[in-house]
Amino acid sequence: SAGPDGAAPGMTFDPVAANTQDAVVIPDGYRQEIVIRWGDPVLPGAPQFDFANQTPEAQAGQFGFNNDFAGLIPIDGVPNHHYLVVNQEYTTEQFMFTGYQEKAPTEQQARISMAAHGITVVEVAATPGTGKLTPVVGQRNRRITASTPFRLVGPAAGSALVKTSADPAGDTVLGTIANCSGGLTPWGTMLSGEENFNNYFGNASKVTDQATKAGLERYSFEDDADYHLWGRFDKRFDLAQEPNEANRFGYIVEVDPHDPTSTPVKHSALGRLKHESANVYVVGSGPDEGTVVAYSGDDEKFEYIYKFVSTRRIKSGLSKAARTHNMGILNEGTLYVATFTGDDPGAVDGSGKLPASGSFAGRGTWAKLLTVDADGKSTSHVAGMTPEQVAVWTRQAADKAGATKMDRPEDIEASPRTGKIYCALTNNDDRGTSGEAAADSANPRNENKNGQIIEITDDHVGTEFTWDLLLVCGDPAAADTYYGGFDKTKVSAISCPDNVAFDPHGNLWVSTDGNALDSNDGLFAVALDGDRRGETKQFLTVPKGAETCGPIIDRDRVIVCVQHPGEEDDHSADNPASHWPDGGSSQPRPSVVAVWKDGGSIGV
Ligand code: FEO
Ligand code: CA
Ligand code: CA
Ligand code: CA
Repeated sequence: SAGPDGAAPGMTFDPVAANTQDAVVIPDGYRQEIVIRWGDPVLPGAPQFDFANQTPEAQAGQFGFNNDFAGLIPIDGVPNHHYLVVNQEYTTEQFMFTGYQEKAPTEQQARISMAAHGITVVEVAATPGTGKLTPVVGQRNRRITASTPFRLVGPAAGSALVKTSADPAGDTVLGTIANCSGGLTPWGTMLSGEENFNNYFGNASKVTDQATKAGLERYSFEDDADYHLWGRFDKRFDLAQEPNEANRFGYIVEVDPHDPTSTPVKHSALGRLKHESANVYVVGSGPDEGTVVAYSGDDEKFEYIYKFVSTRRIKSGLSKAARTHNMGILNEGTLYVATFTGDDPGAVDGSGKLPASGSFAGRGTWAKLLTVDADGKSTSHVAGMTPEQVAVWTRQAADKAGATKMDRPEDIEASPRTGKIYCALTNNDDRGTSGEAAADSANPRNENKNGQIIEITDDHVGTEFTWDLLLVCGDPAAADTYYGGFDKTKVSAISCPDNVAFDPHGNLWVSTDGNALDSNDGLFAVALDGDRRGETKQFLTVPKGAETCGPIIDRDRVIVCVQHPGEEDDHSADNPASHWPDGGSSQPRPSVVAVWKDGGSIGV
């Protein structure tokens, strides 16, 4: 069934054309406004942003750098007010400081950078009749940085692999870093994934213990990966002094915004990888009703897709008791990793050419890695590895399980309408190159520059599934692309899918990072069902050098996080490539943007 202009329901808007403007470009008839920018005050007493005179203390009370995920959680008893929860993934110091010396940060710069990381909780007030959101600087707000205490739970907690000189008990970790994508739980908390944590630790080459060294190598720690050089000022980040500190990052973190004094948690039962978020699905009926399943991707070339099936069932309501019970859900259950097999593997030649059946499809299995019982006892399902080792060196465990090496699994999320799961496989230009795995049915192109989106039909609690590729991204005119079977002459070109979300009509929305088709990145709506399946329309584009993150699509507004505007080669704060959002000769500032349709709903 089609909407009024023939588009899928909820996708009635004039698509935004590919462009390289230094602006957020939105469809005709829509409006936009900044919600919050890097440096805007969040905590009471925080100063206004002053680019040239930034301090660690100011930054610790202000909105952090490089916003990635955004979520809105209603505030009980305060109509039209929400907690806006946002993670601040990473810093690019050359865009934060003029005159920045790449190999010689000052301690002041390093400490500003630490304070610009983490997670922000900020109360926002909605203006009814519009999509506008206005931050409220007050007691509900919170900044979690690279120094905030976290409680480590699950099999890794207390193990020898995570003990350090500052934390001999191995259960209290300072800070969260490299948080990428995220999800909201039905119990009112935010989940966020610690992703490229290898970029924060120095002196990997000085580690001598063989098992520790192997663990560091499997997670791509190397001296050259240490972009931030924090280890010069804080020995936690110097692997020669604290080799186990690296094992305390790479987890799914959970934050309860309803209590700004609560201690956030790192969940090791979900494994340690370059987590691109986790998103939960709750089984709605049948004997497994109330079982919570968390899906997560490991975003690096040739890494895996995971799920965690809880044994503790969800308790309804948002009381403190229910939230406490529910915050233990991700600590009781079994972690699995996915293997994908194709229906017609012989038809895959690495070119992306469709098999004779007309689509890439197949079956898959989930292999058990680790189980945690209600009494806290944990069991490894991987020969030769203890539960602690599986929780900390999850990649090696998944290697042993023979899981399928994917093209960089980014965001993964179940449709609340159908329960089908969608994972953005963003790209992998090393696929099929010398010494690397060649194309397979689920990753059908060698030197894959544009990525694909896989659709998984899982019964959630079991060990078998079926799958197909919804999109094989790239130039619709090219033979190696597929848009769900839709007429490719009538779609917007999409490249490098990263985050996925759903609108109230059941459409998938996809934000991109790294568009390989000579356009800025953007946000796209993709129809999933009926005769419009595969219809793809670009809703907005972000400024030069930016990637599109966030996103939230509800009836009243679209929210996107514009991450790293102006981040282009040969540019820096001394020579900005972008002046978004403030214009003139201003420095670019990562920001959250609200878009809405005056007097109407999104896409209607
Ligand atoms: Fe930070 Fe996988 O994107
Ligand atoms: Ca991402
Ligand atoms: Ca998502
Ligand atoms: Ca990405």
